[in-house]
Formats: sequence, structure tokens, C-alpha cells
Amino acid sequence: MALSAKSFFVENKPNLQPDIRLNLEKEFFCSIKLSNGTFKTTWPNRFKDIDLEVIKYLQKQAAVKPKTFLDIGVSSGRSTYEWFLSLKDAGFQPKMKGTDLILTAYLIRICSGIYVLAEKNGHPLQFDLINVVIRSWNRRLDYFTGYFCLTIALKRIFKPEFLLKKIHYGEKQLKKSSCQENTKKIKLLSPIIREDCPIEFYEDDILAKNSGSFKRKYDMIRVCNLLNKGYFTLDQLRLGLKNIIEKLSGPGSYLLINRTVDAINHGALFRFRDDGRLESVLQLGKGSEIEDLVLEMTID
Ligand SMILES: C[S@@+](CC[C@H](N)C(=O)[O-])C[C@H]1O[C@@H](n2cnc3c(N)ncnc32)[C@H](O)[C@@H]1O
Repeated sequence: MALSAKSFFVENKPNLQPDIRLNLEKEFFCSIKLSNGTFKTTWPNRFKDIDLEVIKYLQKQAAVKPKTFLDIGVSSGRSTYEWFLSLKDAGFQPKMKGTDLILTAYLIRICSGIYVLAEKNGHPLQFDLINVVIRSWNRRLDYFTGYFCLTIALKRIFKPEFLLKKIHYGEKQLKKSSCQENTKKIKLLSPIIREDCPIEFYEDDILAKNSGSFKRKYDMIRVCNLLNKGYFTLDQLRLGLKNIIEKLSGPGSYLLINRTVDAINHGALFRFRDDGRLESVLQLGKGSEIEDLVLEMTID
């Protein structure tokens, strides 16, 4: 059974052992599927190997050390923070930002003991029925066990329009007073990301046109487990890549694309050339499944 947002984010359990806390965090984020069909799946130390390999490359080969870094599709932000720490340990002075489509969700109290965690568009992410957590999506096994009936029934009862009304009402109440009992706004970030965290996090959609504040800003961008062929069509992948490459600062900047399969990282580090194209300079594991798409991109 998945962990409830209420117990992970709201009920503070200070006495938990660190390894249990890490497992709970992994369990929670791996159970969340967004309305666009992507998962929030992530876990601690997921990229330690590639972070070190890329740092080694940059130390040897980069003419100028990157200073501005962007992690796209951060999920809990934990691996973004880990990347920041590895760069600092290696002598870099990173100024880092992280983005994700969804960083805020709403925990809606329907009545005593019944909660729904929802995206801001009203899409349910999780149902909590007196501490029994029901996913809003189904695994293949759920069709054999009958679990899927529960999901369907709950989705019929708690429709997005209904949840959206609750969210709007909760937002209005929040404006009047900082404390709102029935609808809580939750930052879907790891507890490791505290107020004094040196990384800034923003919501941003890779498929939406870039706002000026992100264009041509970053010496290095990392995109892990997002530009996957299973998540997006080829046209969407091209559009996402175009928007991401527009954020690179220019010739000499880097783009790291990675996909984790069975806990093994496969990706590539690309360098922005003077002629406005990207070249692959480092292969990680078996390489990136979208390398051909990256190499065909041209940048004005
Ligand atoms: C599988 S998780 C990967 C998280 C982390 N990068 C990792 O590999 O551990 C994919 C992340 O991409 C985010 N995402 C999905 N669609 C997105 C979009 N269109 N724009 C930006 N982020 C998106 C999801 O919210 C989720 O946090």
C-alpha cells in the first residue's frame, strides 16, 4: 500500500530513522502519476554514478566551467540537491534552479478521515480513506485483484470538477487566513529541500513556450527520466527538446539527458557547438534513446 500525502507531508514524525524516512519518501513519490501520464518516480542517490562521471569529464574537458545549472523534471528535488552537493564538493560554484510541471498539490479533506490529493487542475493523485491509500491509477495486477474497481468508483465520486471547486474555495479561504483546515496546499518536494536551500524551484512545462526568464540562461541542463519515448510522441519530444535547448546559454554549454532502466542510468552528455548544433561528447551506460533527435536539432 502506498504512503498517504497526509502522513508524509502533514503529520510530522521527527523520531523516524533516516533510512525509514528515505524509504517513505521513495514510496510516496513513486506512487504518484500525473494527469499527463508521467510519474513522479524518483529516489535518493539515483544519479550518483553519472553525476561523478560528468563532473570528471567537465573537469578535464570543459574550456570554461559551467556556473549556471538547471535540472528539469525534478520530482521531489532530492536528486537536484544531490547534484548541487556533488558539484560543490568537486570545486564548482553552482547557481542552480530546478523545474517541474507540478510542484504543488492540494490535500482536500472531504469529511472526517477522507482526503483526496489533487493537482491544481482537479486531477486526483491519491485517495486516503481512513488511512487506507488508494492510487488513482492502476497496475496490470489490479485488474486481477479487483483493485481497479475501487479506483474507478472513487474517480467517479471525486470528479475533477468537484475537486476543482474545493480547490478554488480553499484558495479563497487561504487568502483570508493563512490557515485552512479543509484544503492544504502542499509543496511536493522532499523534506531535504528546506527554506534555506540554495536551489530555487519553479513550475515549468517543457512543452510550453519559454518565458524570457529561462531563455539562454544555463551553462548546463540536466533532464533525467522525462524525455522518454514512452511518455511523449516524437513531435512532443522534438518540441520539448527545442524549448530546453533554448534555455542553454550558447556555444560551450551542455545538455545531459538520461533514462534509468532497472536502476541503471543510460544517457549522454551533449555539447552546444559554435555552429548551433549539439554533439554527443560522453556516453553514459548504453547511451540516450533520443540521441538521434538531439543531434538533428538546430539552434538559431
Ligand atoms: C519520472 S520523474 C523523474 C524525476 C527525476 N528527474 C528523476 O529522474 O529521478 C518525471 C518528472 O517529470 C515531470 N514532468 C512530467 N511532464 C512534464 C512536463 N511536461 N514538463 C516538465 N516536467 C514534467 C514530472 O512531474 C516528474 O516529476
